[in-house]
Amino acid sequence: MKLTKSKSWIILFIGLLLIVVSVTVIARNDEVKQPIAFNHKKHVDNNVPCNFCHRLYETTRAAGIPSVKVCITCHEDVLYVTPEKAKIQTYYREGKDIPWRRIYQAPDHVFFSHRLHIQKGQVECKQCHGEVKTRITPFTQQTVPLKMKYCISCHEGVESIDNPYECIRCHH
Ligand code: HEC
Ligand code: HEC
Ligand code: HEC
Ligand code: HEC
Ligand code: HEC
Repeated sequence: MKLTKSKSWIILFIGLLLIVVSVTVIARNDEVKQPIAFNHKKHVDNNVPCNFCHRLYETTRAAGIPSVKVCITCHEDVLYVTPEKAKIQTYYREGKDIPWRRIYQAPDHVFFSHRLHIQKGQVECKQCHGEVKTRITPFTQQTVPLKMKYCISCHEGVESIDNPYECIRCHH
Protein backbone atom coordinates (compact mmCIF):
# COMPACT_ATOMS: atom_id res chain seq x y z
CA MET A 1 0.00 0.00 0.00
CA LYS A 2 1.33 3.40 -0.88
CA LEU A 3 0.56 6.12 1.63
CA THR A 4 -0.16 9.62 0.55
CA LYS A 5 1.71 12.36 2.37
CA SER A 6 -1.35 13.43 4.34
CA LYS A 7 -2.12 9.86 5.46
CA SER A 8 1.42 9.45 6.83
CA TRP A 9 1.03 12.66 8.76
CA ILE A 10 -2.19 11.35 10.28
CA ILE A 11 -0.50 8.08 11.29
CA LEU A 12 2.43 9.98 12.81
CA PHE A 13 0.00 12.21 14.68
CA ILE A 14 -1.97 9.24 16.07
CA GLY A 15 1.31 7.59 17.10
CA LEU A 16 2.44 10.68 19.01
CA LEU A 17 -0.98 11.01 20.63
CA LEU A 18 -0.78 7.42 21.88
CA ILE A 19 2.64 8.08 23.41
CA VAL A 20 1.40 11.19 25.20
CA VAL A 21 -1.69 9.37 26.51
CA SER A 22 0.29 6.38 27.81
CA VAL A 23 2.89 8.59 29.50
CA THR A 24 0.08 10.48 31.25
CA VAL A 25 -1.55 7.25 32.41
CA ILE A 26 1.75 5.89 33.74
CA ALA A 27 2.46 9.15 35.57
CA ARG A 28 -0.98 9.05 37.22
CA ASN A 29 -0.43 5.49 38.39
CA ASP A 30 2.86 6.48 39.97
CA GLU A 31 1.34 6.51 43.44
CA VAL A 32 3.15 8.00 46.40
CA LYS A 33 5.12 5.53 48.52
CA GLN A 34 5.23 6.10 52.27
CA PRO A 35 8.38 5.16 54.24
CA ILE A 36 6.59 2.97 56.85
CA ALA A 37 3.45 0.84 56.46
CA PHE A 38 1.51 2.95 58.94
CA ASN A 39 -1.82 1.53 60.07
CA HIS A 40 -4.34 4.06 61.43
CA LYS A 41 -6.87 1.41 62.45
CA LYS A 42 -4.43 -0.41 64.72
CA HIS A 43 -3.67 2.79 66.60
CA VAL A 44 -7.26 3.99 66.88
CA ASP A 45 -8.34 0.50 68.06
CA ASN A 46 -5.64 0.78 70.75
CA ASN A 47 -7.28 4.03 71.90
CA VAL A 48 -4.65 6.41 70.60
CA PRO A 49 -6.69 9.55 69.79
CA CYS A 50 -6.12 11.57 66.61
CA ASN A 51 -4.71 14.51 68.58
CA PHE A 52 -2.04 12.38 70.24
CA CYS A 53 -0.28 12.41 66.88
CA HIS A 54 -1.85 15.33 65.00
CA ARG A 55 -1.30 17.82 67.79
CA LEU A 56 -2.13 21.14 66.20
CA TYR A 57 -5.65 21.09 64.80
CA GLU A 58 -7.37 22.40 67.91
CA THR A 59 -5.15 25.47 68.13
CA THR A 60 -3.73 26.31 64.69
CA ARG A 61 -4.39 26.25 60.96
CA ALA A 62 -2.37 23.04 60.57
CA ALA A 63 -3.08 19.53 61.89
CA GLY A 64 0.57 18.47 62.00
CA ILE A 65 2.38 15.26 61.10
CA PRO A 66 3.90 13.54 64.16
CA SER A 67 7.67 13.60 64.52
CA VAL A 68 9.60 10.38 65.14
CA LYS A 69 9.83 11.40 68.82
CA VAL A 70 6.07 10.94 69.15
CA CYS A 71 6.30 7.42 67.70
CA ILE A 72 9.22 6.45 69.94
CA THR A 73 7.24 7.21 73.11
CA CYS A 74 5.40 3.94 72.41
CA HIS A 75 7.83 2.09 70.15
CA GLU A 76 11.07 2.28 72.13
CA ASP A 77 10.50 -1.30 73.25
CA VAL A 78 12.98 -3.58 71.50
CA LEU A 79 11.01 -6.74 72.25
CA TYR A 80 8.35 -7.63 69.67
CA VAL A 81 9.95 -5.58 66.94
CA THR A 82 8.72 -6.17 63.44
CA PRO A 83 10.60 -4.84 60.39
CA GLU A 84 8.20 -1.89 60.09
CA LYS A 85 8.54 -0.96 63.75
CA ALA A 86 12.33 -1.40 63.52
CA LYS A 87 12.40 1.38 60.93
CA ILE A 88 11.11 3.82 63.57
CA GLN A 89 14.01 2.92 65.86
CA THR A 90 16.52 3.30 63.03
CA TYR A 91 15.27 6.77 62.10
CA TYR A 92 15.29 7.76 65.76
CA ARG A 93 18.82 6.44 66.41
CA GLU A 94 20.12 8.22 63.34
CA GLY A 95 18.50 11.46 64.49
CA LYS A 96 16.38 11.65 61.34
CA ASP A 97 12.71 12.35 60.99
CA ILE A 98 10.50 9.91 59.11
CA PRO A 99 10.20 11.27 55.56
CA TRP A 100 6.39 11.07 55.27
CA ARG A 101 5.03 12.31 51.99
CA ARG A 102 2.26 14.93 52.35
CA ILE A 103 -1.01 14.04 50.66
CA TYR A 104 -3.29 16.91 51.59
CA GLN A 105 -1.62 20.21 50.90
CA ALA A 106 -3.41 23.36 49.88
CA PRO A 107 -1.62 25.66 47.42
CA ASP A 108 0.01 28.78 48.94
CA HIS A 109 -2.72 31.06 47.61
CA VAL A 110 -5.40 29.27 49.66
CA PHE A 111 -6.24 30.06 53.27
CA PHE A 112 -7.46 27.07 55.27
CA SER A 113 -7.72 26.61 59.03
CA HIS A 114 -8.26 23.35 60.91
CA ARG A 115 -8.98 25.14 64.17
CA LEU A 116 -11.74 27.15 62.56
CA HIS A 117 -13.42 24.13 60.98
CA ILE A 118 -13.07 21.79 63.93
CA GLN A 119 -13.53 24.03 66.97
CA LYS A 120 -15.90 26.61 65.52
CA GLY A 121 -17.50 24.85 62.56
CA GLN A 122 -17.81 21.40 64.24
CA VAL A 123 -16.88 19.72 60.95
CA GLU A 124 -15.71 16.13 61.33
CA CYS A 125 -12.34 14.91 60.01
CA LYS A 126 -14.04 12.36 57.78
CA GLN A 127 -15.92 14.99 55.82
CA CYS A 128 -12.63 16.06 54.30
CA HIS A 129 -10.37 13.05 54.78
CA GLY A 130 -12.71 10.07 54.51
CA GLU A 131 -12.97 7.33 57.16
CA VAL A 132 -9.51 7.29 58.78
CA LYS A 133 -10.38 5.04 61.74
CA THR A 134 -10.60 1.98 59.51
CA ARG A 135 -7.58 2.65 57.29
CA ILE A 136 -4.99 -0.10 57.40
CA THR A 137 -2.62 1.36 54.82
CA PRO A 138 -0.92 4.76 54.78
CA PHE A 139 -2.35 7.58 52.69
CA THR A 140 -1.20 7.54 49.08
CA GLN A 141 -3.88 9.78 47.65
CA GLN A 142 -6.67 12.10 48.76
CA THR A 143 -9.71 10.02 49.69
CA VAL A 144 -11.92 13.08 49.35
CA PRO A 145 -10.39 15.35 46.69
CA LEU A 146 -10.19 18.77 48.36
CA LYS A 147 -10.98 20.86 45.32
CA MET A 148 -12.38 24.40 45.39
CA LYS A 149 -15.76 23.11 44.24
CA TYR A 150 -16.00 20.80 47.24
CA CYS A 151 -15.12 23.58 49.73
CA ILE A 152 -17.75 25.86 48.23
CA SER A 153 -20.44 23.19 47.99
CA CYS A 154 -20.24 22.65 51.75
CA HIS A 155 -20.14 26.39 52.49
CA GLU A 156 -23.36 26.80 50.49
CA GLY A 157 -25.14 25.00 53.31
CA VAL A 158 -23.46 26.90 56.18
CA GLU A 159 -25.74 29.51 57.70
CA SER A 160 -22.98 31.74 59.12
CA ILE A 161 -21.43 32.16 55.65
CA ASP A 162 -23.55 34.66 53.73
CA ASN A 163 -21.70 34.70 50.39
CA PRO A 164 -19.97 31.36 49.82
CA TYR A 165 -18.55 32.47 46.46
CA GLU A 166 -16.56 35.44 47.77
CA CYS A 167 -13.02 34.82 46.51
CA ILE A 168 -11.11 36.64 49.27
CA ARG A 169 -12.51 34.33 51.94
CA CYS A 170 -10.18 31.63 50.72
CA HIS A 171 -7.68 33.48 48.53
CA HIS A 172 -5.62 36.09 50.38
C1 HEC B 1 0.35 6.02 72.14
C2 HEC B 1 1.13 4.89 71.69
C3 HEC B 1 1.56 4.82 70.23
C4 HEC B 1 2.14 5.81 69.47
C5 HEC B 1 2.41 7.25 69.85
C6 HEC B 1 2.48 5.19 68.21
N1 HEC B 1 2.12 3.88 68.21
FE1 HEC B 1 2.42 2.53 66.71
N2 HEC B 1 1.45 1.11 67.79
C7 HEC B 1 0.90 1.28 69.02
C8 HEC B 1 0.19 0.06 69.41
C9 HEC B 1 -0.54 -0.15 70.74
C10 HEC B 1 0.34 -0.84 68.34
C11 HEC B 1 -0.23 -2.26 68.24
C12 HEC B 1 0.62 -3.23 68.98
C13 HEC B 1 1.94 -3.41 68.33
O1 HEC B 1 1.99 -3.90 67.18
O2 HEC B 1 2.96 -2.99 68.91
C14 HEC B 1 1.17 -0.16 67.35
C15 HEC B 1 1.60 -0.75 66.18
C16 HEC B 1 2.40 -0.14 65.24
C17 HEC B 1 2.97 -0.78 64.07
C18 HEC B 1 2.79 -2.23 63.69
C19 HEC B 1 1.53 -2.28 62.88
C20 HEC B 1 1.25 -3.60 62.27
O3 HEC B 1 0.52 -3.59 61.28
O4 HEC B 1 1.69 -4.61 62.80
C21 HEC B 1 3.67 0.17 63.37
C22 HEC B 1 4.42 0.01 62.07
C23 HEC B 1 3.54 1.41 64.11
N3 HEC B 1 2.78 1.19 65.23
C24 HEC B 1 4.07 2.61 63.71
C25 HEC B 1 3.95 3.81 64.42
C26 HEC B 1 4.46 5.08 63.95
C27 HEC B 1 5.18 5.31 62.64
C28 HEC B 1 4.18 5.99 64.92
C29 HEC B 1 4.46 7.47 64.91
C30 HEC B 1 3.86 8.20 63.82
C31 HEC B 1 3.49 5.29 65.99
N4 HEC B 1 3.36 3.97 65.64
C32 HEC B 1 3.07 5.87 67.17
C33 HEC B 1 1.00 2.39 69.83
C34 HEC B 1 1.54 3.60 69.43
C1 HEC C 1 -13.07 21.14 56.10
C2 HEC C 1 -12.09 20.22 55.66
C3 HEC C 1 -11.15 19.57 56.64
C4 HEC C 1 -11.46 19.00 57.86
C5 HEC C 1 -12.80 18.93 58.56
C6 HEC C 1 -10.24 18.43 58.36
N1 HEC C 1 -9.22 18.66 57.48
FE1 HEC C 1 -7.30 18.03 57.63
N2 HEC C 1 -6.80 19.02 55.94
C7 HEC C 1 -7.67 19.78 55.17
C8 HEC C 1 -6.92 20.54 54.18
C9 HEC C 1 -7.51 21.50 53.17
C10 HEC C 1 -5.57 20.21 54.37
C11 HEC C 1 -4.37 20.80 53.65
C12 HEC C 1 -4.01 22.03 54.49
C13 HEC C 1 -2.85 22.85 54.06
O1 HEC C 1 -2.08 22.47 53.17
O2 HEC C 1 -2.66 23.93 54.66
C14 HEC C 1 -5.53 19.24 55.48
C15 HEC C 1 -4.36 18.65 55.98
C16 HEC C 1 -4.34 17.72 57.01
C17 HEC C 1 -3.16 16.99 57.45
C18 HEC C 1 -1.76 17.12 56.86
C19 HEC C 1 -0.87 17.89 57.81
C20 HEC C 1 -1.21 19.33 57.97
O3 HEC C 1 -1.02 19.86 59.07
O4 HEC C 1 -1.64 20.00 57.02
C21 HEC C 1 -3.55 16.19 58.49
C22 HEC C 1 -2.67 15.26 59.31
C23 HEC C 1 -4.96 16.43 58.72
N3 HEC C 1 -5.41 17.35 57.79
C24 HEC C 1 -5.69 15.82 59.73
C25 HEC C 1 -6.99 16.17 60.06
C26 HEC C 1 -7.68 15.71 61.26
C27 HEC C 1 -7.11 14.80 62.32
C28 HEC C 1 -8.94 16.26 61.21
C29 HEC C 1 -10.05 16.15 62.24
C30 HEC C 1 -9.71 16.47 63.63
C31 HEC C 1 -9.02 17.06 60.00
N4 HEC C 1 -7.81 17.00 59.35
C32 HEC C 1 -10.13 17.76 59.58
C33 HEC C 1 -9.03 19.80 55.30
C34 HEC C 1 -9.74 19.35 56.41
C1 HEC D 1 -0.20 7.03 66.20
C2 HEC D 1 -0.21 8.27 65.46
C3 HEC D 1 -1.43 8.65 64.66
C4 HEC D 1 -2.75 8.68 65.06
C5 HEC D 1 -3.34 8.27 66.40
C6 HEC D 1 -3.51 9.21 63.95
N1 HEC D 1 -2.67 9.48 62.90
FE1 HEC D 1 -3.17 10.30 61.11
N2 HEC D 1 -1.28 10.05 60.44
C7 HEC D 1 -0.23 9.55 61.18
C8 HEC D 1 0.93 9.38 60.32
C9 HEC D 1 2.28 8.82 60.73
C10 HEC D 1 0.54 9.82 59.04
C11 HEC D 1 1.39 9.81 57.75
C12 HEC D 1 1.32 8.40 57.15
C13 HEC D 1 0.00 8.09 56.53
O1 HEC D 1 -0.34 8.71 55.55
O2 HEC D 1 -0.72 7.18 57.02
C14 HEC D 1 -0.84 10.25 59.15
C15 HEC D 1 -1.58 10.79 58.12
C16 HEC D 1 -2.86 11.31 58.26
C17 HEC D 1 -3.56 12.05 57.24
C18 HEC D 1 -3.03 12.42 55.87
C19 HEC D 1 -2.01 13.54 56.02
C20 HEC D 1 -1.41 14.00 54.73
O3 HEC D 1 -1.95 14.91 54.13
O4 HEC D 1 -0.40 13.46 54.32
C21 HEC D 1 -4.80 12.34 57.75
C22 HEC D 1 -5.90 13.10 57.05
C23 HEC D 1 -4.87 11.77 59.07
N3 HEC D 1 -3.68 11.16 59.36
C24 HEC D 1 -5.98 11.84 59.90
C25 HEC D 1 -6.09 11.19 61.13
C26 HEC D 1 -7.32 11.07 61.88
C27 HEC D 1 -8.66 11.63 61.47
C28 HEC D 1 -7.02 10.37 63.02
C29 HEC D 1 -7.96 9.91 64.12
C30 HEC D 1 -9.10 9.12 63.69
C31 HEC D 1 -5.60 10.06 62.97
N4 HEC D 1 -5.08 10.55 61.80
C32 HEC D 1 -4.89 9.38 63.96
C33 HEC D 1 -0.24 9.25 62.52
C34 HEC D 1 -1.39 9.15 63.30
C1 HEC E 1 -17.97 19.81 55.19
C2 HEC E 1 -18.10 21.25 55.21
C3 HEC E 1 -16.94 22.14 54.87
C4 HEC E 1 -15.97 21.94 53.93
C5 HEC E 1 -15.77 20.75 53.01
C6 HEC E 1 -15.14 23.12 53.96
N1 HEC E 1 -15.58 24.00 54.88
FE1 HEC E 1 -14.81 25.88 55.23
N2 HEC E 1 -16.22 26.16 56.68
C7 HEC E 1 -17.17 25.24 57.08
C8 HEC E 1 -17.92 25.78 58.19
C9 HEC E 1 -19.04 25.06 58.95
C10 HEC E 1 -17.39 27.06 58.44
C11 HEC E 1 -17.90 28.10 59.45
C12 HEC E 1 -17.11 28.13 60.70
C13 HEC E 1 -17.70 29.24 61.56
O1 HEC E 1 -18.70 28.96 62.21
O2 HEC E 1 -17.18 30.34 61.50
C14 HEC E 1 -16.32 27.28 57.47
C15 HEC E 1 -15.56 28.44 57.37
C16 HEC E 1 -14.52 28.65 56.49
C17 HEC E 1 -13.73 29.86 56.39
C18 HEC E 1 -13.95 31.13 57.20
C19 HEC E 1 -15.19 31.78 56.69
C20 HEC E 1 -15.36 33.18 57.18
O3 HEC E 1 -15.24 34.07 56.35
O4 HEC E 1 -15.58 33.37 58.37
C21 HEC E 1 -12.78 29.65 55.43
C22 HEC E 1 -11.72 30.62 54.97
C23 HEC E 1 -12.97 28.30 54.92
N3 HEC E 1 -14.04 27.73 55.59
C24 HEC E 1 -12.19 27.72 53.95
C25 HEC E 1 -12.40 26.44 53.44
C26 HEC E 1 -11.59 25.83 52.41
C27 HEC E 1 -10.42 26.47 51.71
C28 HEC E 1 -12.11 24.57 52.21
C29 HEC E 1 -11.65 23.50 51.24
C30 HEC E 1 -10.26 23.09 51.31
C31 HEC E 1 -13.24 24.42 53.11
N4 HEC E 1 -13.39 25.56 53.84
C32 HEC E 1 -14.02 23.28 53.14
C33 HEC E 1 -17.41 24.03 56.50
C34 HEC E 1 -16.68 23.45 55.47
C1 HEC F 1 -14.28 28.08 49.98
C2 HEC F 1 -12.99 28.44 49.52
C3 HEC F 1 -12.79 29.02 48.16
C4 HEC F 1 -13.47 30.07 47.57
C5 HEC F 1 -14.64 30.84 48.11
C6 HEC F 1 -12.82 30.29 46.30
N1 HEC F 1 -11.79 29.40 46.13
FE1 HEC F 1 -10.54 29.28 44.51
N2 HEC F 1 -9.59 27.64 45.34
C7 HEC F 1 -9.91 27.10 46.56
C8 HEC F 1 -9.07 25.93 46.77
C9 HEC F 1 -9.09 25.03 47.98
C10 HEC F 1 -8.23 25.82 45.64
C11 HEC F 1 -7.14 24.76 45.40
C12 HEC F 1 -7.74 23.44 44.98
C13 HEC F 1 -8.21 23.48 43.58
O1 HEC F 1 -7.41 23.79 42.68
O2 HEC F 1 -9.41 23.24 43.36
C14 HEC F 1 -8.59 26.91 44.75
C15 HEC F 1 -8.00 27.16 43.51
C16 HEC F 1 -8.27 28.27 42.73
C17 HEC F 1 -7.57 28.60 41.50
C18 HEC F 1 -6.45 27.79 40.90
C19 HEC F 1 -7.02 26.69 40.09
C20 HEC F 1 -5.99 25.83 39.50
O3 HEC F 1 -6.37 24.97 38.70
O4 HEC F 1 -4.82 25.94 39.87
C21 HEC F 1 -8.11 29.74 41.02
C22 HEC F 1 -7.70 30.47 39.77
C23 HEC F 1 -9.18 30.13 41.93
N3 HEC F 1 -9.24 29.22 42.96
C24 HEC F 1 -9.96 31.24 41.78
C25 HEC F 1 -11.06 31.58 42.58
C26 HEC F 1 -11.96 32.71 42.31
C27 HEC F 1 -11.87 33.67 41.14
C28 HEC F 1 -12.88 32.71 43.34
C29 HEC F 1 -14.08 33.63 43.52
C30 HEC F 1 -15.05 33.66 42.45
C31 HEC F 1 -12.54 31.60 44.23
N4 HEC F 1 -11.43 30.96 43.73
C32 HEC F 1 -13.21 31.28 45.39
C33 HEC F 1 -10.85 27.55 47.45
C34 HEC F 1 -11.74 28.59 47.23
